[in-house]
Amino acid sequence: MQERIRNFSIIAHIDHGKSTLADRLLEFTGAISDREMREQFLDKMDLEREKGITIKLQPVRLNYKARDGKEYIFNLIDTPGHVDFTYEVSRSLAACEGALLVVDASQGIEAQTLANVYMAMDLDLAIVGVINKIDLPGARVEEVREEIQNVIGLAAEEIYPISAKLGLGIEEVLEAVVKHIPPPQGDVNAPLQALIFDSYFDPYKGAISYIRVVNGQVKKGDIIRMMSTGKEFEVTELGVLNPYMTEVEKLEVGEVGYLAASIKNVGDTKVGDTITLAENPADKPLPGYKVVKPMVYCGLYPLENSEFEKLRDALDKLKLNDASLVYEPETSEALGFGFRCGFLGLLHLEIIKERLEREYDLSLLATAPSVVYKVVLTDGSEVEVQNPKHWPMTQKIDRVLEPFVKASIMVPSDYIGAVMELCQEKRGRYENMEYLSKDRVLLTYKLPLSEILYDFFDALKSRTRGYASLDYEISGYEESDLVKLDILLNGEIVDALSFIVHRENAYYRARAIVQKLRKIIPRQLYEVVIQAAIGSKVIARETVKALRKDVLAKCYGGDVTRKKKLLEKQKEGKKKMKQIGHVEVPKDAFMTILDIE
Ligand code: GTP
Repeated sequence: MQERIRNFSIIAHIDHGKSTLADRLLEFTGAISDREMREQFLDKMDLEREKGITIKLQPVRLNYKARDGKEYIFNLIDTPGHVDFTYEVSRSLAACEGALLVVDASQGIEAQTLANVYMAMDLDLAIVGVINKIDLPGARVEEVREEIQNVIGLAAEEIYPISAKLGLGIEEVLEAVVKHIPPPQGDVNAPLQALIFDSYFDPYKGAISYIRVVNGQVKKGDIIRMMSTGKEFEVTELGVLNPYMTEVEKLEVGEVGYLAASIKNVGDTKVGDTITLAENPADKPLPGYKVVKPMVYCGLYPLENSEFEKLRDALDKLKLNDASLVYEPETSEALGFGFRCGFLGLLHLEIIKERLEREYDLSLLATAPSVVYKVVLTDGSEVEVQNPKHWPMTQKIDRVLEPFVKASIMVPSDYIGAVMELCQEKRGRYENMEYLSKDRVLLTYKLPLSEILYDFFDALKSRTRGYASLDYEISGYEESDLVKLDILLNGEIVDALSFIVHRENAYYRARAIVQKLRKIIPRQLYEVVIQAAIGSKVIARETVKALRKDVLAKCYGGDVTRKKKLLEKQKEGKKKMKQIGHVEVPKDAFMTILDIE
């Protein structure tokens, strides 16, 4: 049986067609009927559909009758393509023996194509090249084939041209999986070792883990032990996703499936942990995953203070299938009780916030995101600051370090100038330039993470007419001349609006922000003075004039419906406001810092 299993992932740069190919594989192997076929079957979350991106990985089992007449079991694990979720890609790859590398025939190799390939190579996976979208008029199949051969080192016969959209070449890909990807190793008689590569919470069954059995076997009714905590549970359900949850009696070496064991505490199914049996346990766990460190922090506050506990509960549940999410309670004078949360990047932040609002029916306010700074104090000690509120007093600061990334930017050579200019503006340092083919280059820059978080990617896309692709990894901390900018409303610092900025940009950013705030803070009974300051020095100021007339003053007389409407409207507006001292501030104000170029 082991001989007929193939575990693989699909890796690609974003939008090169992973999900579409996965759909075709499901269809071709009959896992789902035409009637059930919705586009992008594996993208389960509503959010994924809307944003057109894959976020969570989904393992699915396919039965394939190959040309050699034998029945094979394929376990396909879809992976996300956005740079924020690289870490999920490495998780799914660890459960596989091979990967299909999808490259868009009109775009060629992009930044994340390479990043993903390096990850797969690190794990010694077999790689099958797939050139997708050959139906496009701009398809450059032969050139892209050469690129894959030269840059990635695959042989010509390991590369398959297809159109996932039209369903061309799909059978060849399935045959290639049988031929090029090895069956799982491992010993069915050895003690159980199963890797948890993902998990989520089901209100009826408890925590559900997606597992890959690496050695031994697990049956319904077995007492399992989590190797990181030693906690034991009885297996209540085992199954596979084909693509619907289908129960099985046991999962054996090489297989991928799900496991439920009435686990109530979300922390008890840690992704990366190894499951063994209480009786005859394995002597050591499988290599787990690197612990990922959040890169970006922001405060999340319920608009209604009474929803604090509900927010905590929701975060606990989300954390179960997203180990990269971290959070701890914090209080803000302006916003009350909330959580300081850490994320892998801005898209991750946005997705978590949206999931909390939609799936848990919360109304949230997010403060401006911040990276983690290191501040060396005059007494020689060092503190990590991920909340501008905790920035030390200027007199106590000796120097400040901020995280830098090594950015790899791939771009047609016509746009080298535009990219260099942008990197310069963002305080980047040129490192290297390499020609991948005669008109495509790979530029390498060191850039402050804080600069590329916000609008770098959009700016890069617009200045290269969409042709550039970007990947980055943290390279370390470097010294920078940074200051904390406070925003004051009627003389009071609003702690949740403070942020850290490079001294050279402080003046410009301060002006832009107070102007922006003046526009979005509505006129109210009192005059509102908006100031930006570094320490006690005010560097920008604007005023929102007081409201002169009551909104209802105009509709004297008996027009009750009109009055009602106006009041309703006001109430609507209020809902999205936060009262800070005497000032009503729209909830979006806390993100304005992001909108400033
Ligand atoms: P992420 O999951 O967000 O990383 O994207 P993805 O790589 O899964 O890409 P997806 O399958 O969503 O495809 C991206 C776009 O390319 C969609 O609009 C698809 O319809 C289109 N597409 C996929 N395959 C083909 C193809 O063979 N030909 C053409 N013309 N378009 C394709």
